[in-house]
Amino acid sequence: MRLTDEEKAMLDGAEGPAVAAAMDLLVRYGDALGAERLCETRNVAGTMTQPSPVKAKLVREGGWAKSFSVINLDCDDDIEIPPMRVPTCQLQHGFGDDALGVVPYPPQMVELQGDAESFFGGRGVNILATCTPYQVGNLPVRGEHCAWMESSAVVYCNSVLGARTNCEGTASTGAAALTGRIPYWGNHLPGNRHGTHLIESRVPVDGFLDWGMFGYFVGDLVQEARPVVVGDLRRPDLGDLKHFGAAAASSGGVEIYHLPGTTPEAPTPEAAFGGGRVPEPVVYGERERRGVYETLNNQGTSTDVDFVLLGCPHASLDQIARAARALEGRKLSPGTELWMMTPRALRSVADRSGYTRVIEEAGGRVLTDSCPAMSRSAPAGTRVFATDSAKQAHYLPAILGIEAWFGTLEECVDAAVTGRWRGDLRTVEAAR
Ligand code: F3S
Repeated sequence: MRLTDEEKAMLDGAEGPAVAAAMDLLVRYGDALGAERLCETRNVAGTMTQPSPVKAKLVREGGWAKSFSVINLDCDDDIEIPPMRVPTCQLQHGFGDDALGVVPYPPQMVELQGDAESFFGGRGVNILATCTPYQVGNLPVRGEHCAWMESSAVVYCNSVLGARTNCEGTASTGAAALTGRIPYWGNHLPGNRHGTHLIESRVPVDGFLDWGMFGYFVGDLVQEARPVVVGDLRRPDLGDLKHFGAAAASSGGVEIYHLPGTTPEAPTPEAAFGGGRVPEPVVYGERERRGVYETLNNQGTSTDVDFVLLGCPHASLDQIARAARALEGRKLSPGTELWMMTPRALRSVADRSGYTRVIEEAGGRVLTDSCPAMSRSAPAGTRVFATDSAKQAHYLPAILGIEAWFGTLEECVDAAVTGRWRGDLRTVEAAR
């Protein structure tokens, strides 16, 4: 791989051993990928503070410097970790101290994470602690080269914002944070961003549930390719596009999609395909929609719901406000819990706006930093859960061995209040 003089100097140790180790990792990584060079980035979203038993052991042996060196730089040397060279944020991690006593999650991990936050915060890592950094202050501009992890964030970054990132890992984001570089390959290259498949919806895609189901269909169909979606697609907002991308990155590995007329690199279907031939569409109709709904709802036999999970990807203020409206003046069924996941920064606005109080008065919780899938943690004794997230319905049954129901936010709130799942796609359609 070709390096600039500045990059060669970093590799040779001019900026210290940690930067040299980071550059060494990027060179090995870039060579393995066949990248010809690195590109500059000033936007890294990675994970430094996520606690784990392995990190706990490394911290005991040599502190957080040792942990960062081994896990984020793939280096066994005993080296000092300098401040991050470029703006860097922490994505979702474990539960924080606001979840102590609420979430069955090891207090030692909460303590370890708090310690990590002090260390990395002191080195310039912004502890956003969310899978949706774009909701709380990290909003890259169109064309900006980024180094992000987290599939739902990556697909939003590429598709909705028009910034450029591959789905990076713990080590490559650690190295990017210390060097301001990342291999120039994959989604960083304009020619790799054009559409490959056309999918046309012949049913209305309108609202959070529909966008999640459509995304789930699209991801399953194209896997890691680049879908362009057209048809009866109605007024997607931030939440809809967040759900669409997260679902497409769960059933498949979609990292970029185009929605002509809405997403920035696709003013037209022709532009979405890079000026090339627009292929014949694959149709998403009633049968396909029903198939997705049944797939996401074939993981439950009991309709006795003991846990409701909202906010995957982490909820926007609109979603929290909707949940508060749906819960106002009601009480959760005894034995049923409801968690709404959101970034801590938005939780603070929800507190000030009164939404948290309404949700808590009903018996629910607004929680931050993590989620049940990430921290492998649900209320003790959970057997059946309900969610409005296609991603969480996809992963959580396998991770926790529990049954799942998938529906609208209102159906989930109904399940929390009655303790019963009564969701039905026909009811949702009739209410349109
Ligand atoms: Fe975020 Fe957890 Fe969903 S990290 S995207 S809330 S699985």
